[in-house]
Amino acid sequence: MVTEQTQPEVNIGLVGHVDHGKTTLVQALSGDWTDQHSEEMKRGISIRLGYADATLRRCPDCAEPECYTVEETCPEHDVDTEILRTVSFVDAPGHETLMATMLSGASIMDGAVLVVSATEDVPQAQTEEHLMALDIIGIENIVIAQNKVDLVDDERARENYEQIKAFVEGTVAEDAPIVPVSAQQGVNVDLVISALEEHIPTPERDESLSARMYTARSFDINRPGTKAKDLLGGVIGGSLAQGTLEVDDEIELRPGREVEEGGSSEYHSIETSVRSLQAGGQSQETVGPGGLLGVGTGLDPSLTKGDALAGQVAGEPGTLPPTRNAFEMEVELLDRVVGEGAVEEISTGEPLMLTVGTATTVGAVTSARTGECEVNLKRPVCAEEGAKIAINRRMGARWRLIGVGTLTE
Ligand code: GTP
Repeated sequence: MVTEQTQPEVNIGLVGHVDHGKTTLVQALSGDWTDQHSEEMKRGISIRLGYADATLRRCPDCAEPECYTVEETCPEHDVDTEILRTVSFVDAPGHETLMATMLSGASIMDGAVLVVSATEDVPQAQTEEHLMALDIIGIENIVIAQNKVDLVDDERARENYEQIKAFVEGTVAEDAPIVPVSAQQGVNVDLVISALEEHIPTPERDESLSARMYTARSFDINRPGTKAKDLLGGVIGGSLAQGTLEVDDEIELRPGREVEEGGSSEYHSIETSVRSLQAGGQSQETVGPGGLLGVGTGLDPSLTKGDALAGQVAGEPGTLPPTRNAFEMEVELLDRVVGEGAVEEISTGEPLMLTVGTATTVGAVTSARTGECEVNLKRPVCAEEGAKIAINRRMGARWRLIGVGTLTE
């Protein structure tokens, strides 16, 4: 079967508590299963951000909302369906220790679907934590999928709906539509598509700006044992926030890689060229912002293996923000941490885990005052003034989200 697809133009995150059905919903919308990695299969959770593209369509002959579909031919009217747009779903993990990965995905999300299971009371811990993260990172276009409605009776479904309503009151998701679905049974998928079309529009992009790609994954796509002459260059996966990329473009990656020199080490940016581009499941000559893409580079695949370049920023050489080993930020703390109580002020000397763009790094606080602090980073980040930073503090065995920073210098 030839699948007709356009390049994805918008990234939609799937967030919510573990096992509430994010991956199943992505599958219902795209036919892809994002849990592709053997370790993930074993543990049964989405350890790294998975992503899958879906082309949303409508049947010209069906009424609303039944007209919304992902099928190329309408089974009812036997006519070709029309393409609305192709979207990329970023399936963030719901496991409690994986907040950082969720946050790094959030930096490339244009909107989000919050998946809430109808079988449990609302909110479960990560439902609340992920909603707080969307709130502070500023993702406002949200659709709530009330999933697993096939497992509850009418009364329970209504009760659960009221719990969701009460939970989102006063948050960024206050006006988000709540769509009852069964991802597993494919019930109301049309309503989800309709809600995505209405509530998560494709943002306007300025394609005249120079390219800026946030890398969320990186891979070595060669099979073990491939002969040296047949090796393909390393691949980076992520999303363009601005500008366009073309095959043969020269690109720079920052912060790049660590180079040891005379007993000390520093990061040097990496330069390479674009050898191939993949988006929407197809090879492309040019790609624009929106959607997740794979960029084949001229890099040695050992450099890109196992997400080694996740968190890097890529773009035209000489146009990227500076690489920073330290920075100052204005800080806005959450009132409380889910399950832990009130958030205390940041203190000098404490370690923080910081998510900047798609990069996650640990920083030691060198100076802290109310509303601002300075950090020295273990691993540098490429970031410009005004960048949003998710701030996490170690609590027990876990890093917990405590607030958001804005890079000032
Ligand atoms: P993590 O990736 O681990 O955070 O989980 P997830 O939120 O992606 O959940 P996943 O899609 O893996 O679903 C968890 C379990 O619930 C699986 O066994 C699914 O088959 C089941 N499930 C998901 N959606 C539905 C639904 O609508 N109805 C029923 N009955 N089961 C569902």
